[in-house]
Amino acid sequence: MKKKVLVTGGTGYIGSHTVVELMNAGFTPIIVDNLSNSNISVLEGIKKITGIEPIFENIDCKDYIALDRFFEKYQGIEAIINFAASKAVGESVEKPLLYYRNNLMSLVNLLELMPKHGINNIVFSSSCTVYGQPDVLPVTEQSPIKPATSPYGSTKQMSETIIADTVYAYSNLKAILLRYFNPIGAHPSGEIGELPNGIPNNLLPYVTQTARGLREKLRVFGDDYNTEDGSCIRDFINVVDLAKAHVVAVKRMLENKSEKPVEIFNLGTGRGVSVFELVSAFEKATGVKVPFEVAPRRDGDIEKVWADTSYANEVLGWKAQETLENTLRSAWNWEQKLMSRDGNS
Ligand code: NAD
Ligand code: WQD
Repeated sequence: MKKKVLVTGGTGYIGSHTVVELMNAGFTPIIVDNLSNSNISVLEGIKKITGIEPIFENIDCKDYIALDRFFEKYQGIEAIINFAASKAVGESVEKPLLYYRNNLMSLVNLLELMPKHGINNIVFSSSCTVYGQPDVLPVTEQSPIKPATSPYGSTKQMSETIIADTVYAYSNLKAILLRYFNPIGAHPSGEIGELPNGIPNNLLPYVTQTARGLREKLRVFGDDYNTEDGSCIRDFINVVDLAKAHVVAVKRMLENKSEKPVEIFNLGTGRGVSVFELVSAFEKATGVKVPFEVAPRRDGDIEKVWADTSYANEVLGWKAQETLENTLRSAWNWEQKLMSRDGNS
C-alpha cells in the first residue's frame, strides 16, 4: 500500500513540484488547495510528468469543518506537508489580517485535526525571512530569529512557535520545519513552474518576463549595498531540489529517524549570488539579453543572506544538486511555454 500524504497548497509553485517528487518516490499525495493563488490546470501538468492523476480537493484550510470531513473521507493519511499560505510580503503589509487569518488559522486547524484523525507528522514551509539580516554568514539554524519586518514574516515566526508548542503538548506529534531560502526555476519538463499573480515581486519571474518582452526592463533595486558589486545577495535554490527535501523529511518522520520532536533545517545551496550575477548568469545560460536599470533600494530588503546547509546535508542527508545554469534554463523554458500558451499581452 502506498503511503498517503496530504499536501496543502499542492497546486502552488513549490507544492506542485513536491507532489511530483512524492509520486516519483512511491507515495500517494492528496492535494488540498483553495486555488486562491494557483490554477487547476497544474493537475494536468503533474499528470503529464508522472502519468498519475493527482487526487485533488478544493478546500480552504481555514474551514475547520470542511477539513474535518476531508480527513473522514481520506482515512490513513500518515503525514501532512503544509504549503497553504499567502506569501506576498508587500500585500501582507497592506492586509495584515488576511495574512494572520489565512496563514495561522489554516495551520491551527490542521494541528487541531491531527490528533483527532491519528496523524502524527507535519512538515512546515518556513522561510529564511525568520533570520532577518543575520549578523554572521552563512546562516545556521542556530542563528537568532530577528524581529519580523512584515506581517508575512511574523506569520512564519508565529507558525514555528505554534507548531513547537503543539508538539510539546501532544507527545505523539512530530514536526520538521524547513526554512527555504530563495526557490527558483521550474520542472525540467516545462510542464509545471511558477505562476506569478500580476506583476512579479520576485527577481527571477521578473527577469524571465523581461526576457520574454512582457516587461520593458528589470529594475535592480540598489547597487550601493555593502557587497562586491553593490547589489543584494541571495541563496537561490532549485525548486525540484527543494521539493525532494520534502520527500526526505516525510520519510525521516515515517521511519522514526527524527532526533527531536521538532527539527529545523535550512534549505539552500550554501552559495550567495548577487542580483547582477543572477542576471548575467541568466543571459549566459539562455543567450537572451535582459534590459535593466538600477533603481533605488526596495524598502525592507535584506542586504545579504545565504545558508549554511551543513546540518541539512549531514543530518537530513539532502543536498542541492542542480546547477544555477540549468535552473535558469528551466525557468526560461517554462516562461517560453507560458508565452506560447498566453501570448504576450
Ligand atoms: P504558492 O502561492 O504558489 O502556493 C501556495 C498554495 O496554497 C496556492 O496554491 C494557494 O492557492 C494555496 N492556498 C493558500 N491559502 C490556502 C488556504 N487557506 N487553503 C487552501 N489552499 C490555500 O506559494 P509557494 O511559493 O509554492 O509557497 C509555498 C509555501 O512556501 C508557502 O507557505 C510560502 O510561504 C512558503 N515559502 C515560499 C517561498 C518562496 O519564495 N516561494 C520562500 C519561503 C517559504
Ligand atoms: C531578491 C533580490 C531584490 C525584484 C522574498 C521574501 C522572502 C521569501 C523569498 C517567502 C532582492 C532584488 C527583486 C526586482 C530586484 N519568500 N529584486 N528587482 O526579497 O529575497 O525574498 O521571497 O518566504 O520572505 O521577502 O526575494 O526575489 O523578491 O528579491 O532587484 O524586480 O532581487 O531587491 O535583492 P527576497 P526577491
